[in-house]
Amino acid sequence: MKLYDELAEWWPLFSAPENYAEEAAFFARLLAEECKPAPRTVLELGSGGGNNALYLKSKFQMTLIDLSPQMLAVSRTLNPECKHLEGDMRTVNLARTFDAVFVHDAIAYMTSAADLGAAIRTAYLHCRAGGVALFVPDCVRETFVAETKHGGHDGDYGRSLRYLMWVVDPDPTDTTYRTDFAIILRDHRGDVRFVHDSHIEGIFPRAEWIRVLHEAGFEPRTLTDEWGREVFVAQCPS
Ligand SMILES: C[S@@+](CC[C@H](N)C(=O)[O-])C[C@H]1O[C@@H](n2cnc3c(N)ncnc32)[C@H](O)[C@@H]1O
Repeated sequence: MKLYDELAEWWPLFSAPENYAEEAAFFARLLAEECKPAPRTVLELGSGGGNNALYLKSKFQMTLIDLSPQMLAVSRTLNPECKHLEGDMRTVNLARTFDAVFVHDAIAYMTSAADLGAAIRTAYLHCRAGGVALFVPDCVRETFVAETKHGGHDGDYGRSLRYLMWVVDPDPTDTTYRTDFAIILRDHRGDVRFVHDSHIEGIFPRAEWIRVLHEAGFEPRTLTDEWGREVFVAQCPS
């Protein structure tokens, strides 16, 4: 995916850190409520540009894992005090546990039940007894909406980015959908270029999520957050 590779340095203009303050505050509250004693250490899988970590790090000691070295570099600039590690959420093993594990929108890149199961098992492996894991997919099968959105931001020295995002589900019977991004980049010289990036993302029915979470050893439940997303709250039994 070009967005997390050759375009990674543009990530803060694609998805600005300041837009994450409210939802990160919600996740921090949820982690504090669901995890007793209060969580101190949090592992984030698929931490991307570190926009959630920017806010979570004032409350928790964050360890950030991502597949993309370029996205980790963006996050290191924003969050130099956090530990960053390159790894795949399906296979990484840090040989230690955390009070909580947080998996935000990056879970969308699990496109098969086998991949989803592997990522959930990674979360379980790293969660201490009595701890909690939060999974925040953009949608589940029941809440999927085919739609078009746009966004982007202006940066320093005249750099700007705008995008159009087009979400479709060509085959509602499988576990994937498709998001095409039309991205327009204006550099510091004023030169404009256009990039098309196509992402295949995973989508699973709520009951499949719950089944896989149980199978890994979690005690799961769901709630709907104020942005209409289904959040899976998975307790690790004491
Ligand atoms: C939408 S971005 C995450 C943005 C993040 N929520 C933030 O706060 O900046 C998705 C990230 O998932 C990462 N990713 C995709 N597949 C992954 C995998 N198998 N393991 C770890 N990270 C993965 C990508 O490299 C990308 O950085």
